[in-house]
Amino acid sequence: MSEAKRLAGEQAIEYVEDGMVVGVGTGSTVAYFIDALGRIRDRIAGAVSSSEQSTARLKQHGIEVLELNDTGPLALYVDGADECDPHKRLIKGGGAALTREKIIAEASAKFVCIIDPAKQVDVLGRFPLPIEVIPMARSLVAREIVAKTGGQPVWREGVVTDNGNVVLDVHHLRIVDPVGLERELNQVPGVVSVGLFARRPADVVIVGGEPPRVL
Ligand code: 5RP
Repeated sequence: MSEAKRLAGEQAIEYVEDGMVVGVGTGSTVAYFIDALGRIRDRIAGAVSSSEQSTARLKQHGIEVLELNDTGPLALYVDGADECDPHKRLIKGGGAALTREKIIAEASAKFVCIIDPAKQVDVLGRFPLPIEVIPMARSLVAREIVAKTGGQPVWREGVVTDNGNVVLDVHHLRIVDPVGLERELNQVPGVVSVGLFARRPADVVIVGGEPPRVL
């Protein structure tokens, strides 16, 4: 499986243009992209990172990490996903970096998503949906999720996000209206962000393989 991730990550380099500041996601697939980016680091102006984990890897490669507030809008964001449907709508947040990932995706003109074939689904929801929550609202949000979705929220115990929050993973969902569910869950007080990338889906999906498939 990691071979498919490597092939997807390396293929995404095709979208990097000289002088770009590149938005960089989080996860094991993105790690391959960062390694490939390191090989062309002299061609880019820097990166905006979605997590402390990716920041550390970018710096190891000598890539300058910039603040989104300083760069303004980005031309390109490259990130992985936990699930991807045929409309390029995603579940993300398996690595608990969903909020910063969502911010950078929103700020970017093109979102290139890199996945291995196992991430492709017809309907989102087999992978538990991550939701980042303000710690004091954990129980409130969990009750609201049960009432609104019928899904089963499970606290990802021991995990604190880069923003100091907690994560609920919602099991047993079959998400037939991802845009509607994203909008509805975003309304619950205490929810910081929902790991559904449906209102702003990916623009391009690269499925790792020999050869990689571009959707
Ligand atoms: C992190 C994410 C990752 O993109 C997602 O979990 C996929 O990770 P991997 O590439 O390791 O399979 O959303 O929050």
